[in-house]
Amino acid sequence: MRIDFVQDIIDVLRRKKNIIDVLKRKNSQIQFLVFWSGTKCSLKCKNCSNLIPYIEQKSFDAQECINDLKKLLKYKKIKIIQLQGGEIFTHPEAAKFINEINKLNIDSISLTTNGTVIPKEEVLQAIKNNPNMTVTISNYDCAKQSREKLIKVFEEREIKYTIYNFAHKDNTWFKTGEDKEVFQSEEKGRQNYDICLEKYCLTLANGILYSCGKIMAINELYEVKNETSSMLNIRNLARGGELKRFLSNLSHYKQECRYCNIKKDEKIKPAIQLTKEEAEVIKYRKKQKYKA
Ligand SMILES: C[S@@+](CC[C@H](N)C(=O)[O-])C[C@H]1O[C@@H](n2cnc3c(N)ncnc32)[C@H](O)[C@@H]1O
Ligand code: SF4
Ligand code: SF4
Repeated sequence: MRIDFVQDIIDVLRRKKNIIDVLKRKNSQIQFLVFWSGTKCSLKCKNCSNLIPYIEQKSFDAQECINDLKKLLKYKKIKIIQLQGGEIFTHPEAAKFINEINKLNIDSISLTTNGTVIPKEEVLQAIKNNPNMTVTISNYDCAKQSREKLIKVFEEREIKYTIYNFAHKDNTWFKTGEDKEVFQSEEKGRQNYDICLEKYCLTLANGILYSCGKIMAINELYEVKNETSSMLNIRNLARGGELKRFLSNLSHYKQECRYCNIKKDEKIKPAIQLTKEEAEVIKYRKKQKYKA
């Protein structure tokens, strides 16, 4: 059973030029929030817009993340939320994320998966028990076999899903840069920001609200610190005013945009995987960085 409705709304919102006006609306609700369960992923996509293969792989604490969301909801209504990872179905507490989000007052809830992992029974049950949630499966060639298995499992259980052909709807990705970008001029940063679709992806990850999903990785890779306009610590948040200021500042380019290399018109095949050699180099680099 396929439904494209929520993903269509998300895509329209991402594209729409006046989304920033929507985000800034006076009585201020959050129109679209991406909510991460972790950075752990079963794939290593070279051009992942969030640079997931290049950063530390973690499953975040589900209860803490849910508490962050509840805190955010104390100050702002959230219209649409998209639960994702990394790969959400690698998370040992994926069922808890799903069940808890569904108890909250959010108009529309979706979950995005890369289609490589068949969820545990309790996760399937959680999705089944929450018919308001829609599941989006990214349409990757490299995951064809597992996606077909996943679809079979969903259909057996009458779980609604949609196959996602990405923002352009034509089964292509855009280039956003990899992990080796250099700090570029402010002018290039502004150009990146202007044409970037990711700027609409306000992201809540492990207690931090990021102006887009790539900011976490850029901060980790390049150690850009204390950019108050691109990240807000929700766990330390004491007043709604701080959040209001942060949200009203979303429509400006960020320092981190200078580390991107957005090529809007260069369409690429989705989910090309890092080669073994490339993955080894990255693994080594991470090991050096995170060794005790
Ligand atoms: C970052 S992924 C996380 C969810 C899951 N791991 C997956 O790949 O479906 C969220 C969505 O962003 C899309 N995405 C990632 N990198 C992209 C890129 N360079 N261009 C367009 N879409 C991209 C993915 O295809 C996916 O639908
Ligand atoms: S786009 Fe690829 S690497 Fe990025 S989170 Fe999704 S599956 Fe993982
Ligand atoms: S840092 Fe700026 S240019 Fe880079 S993905 Fe985020 S919004 Fe786009």
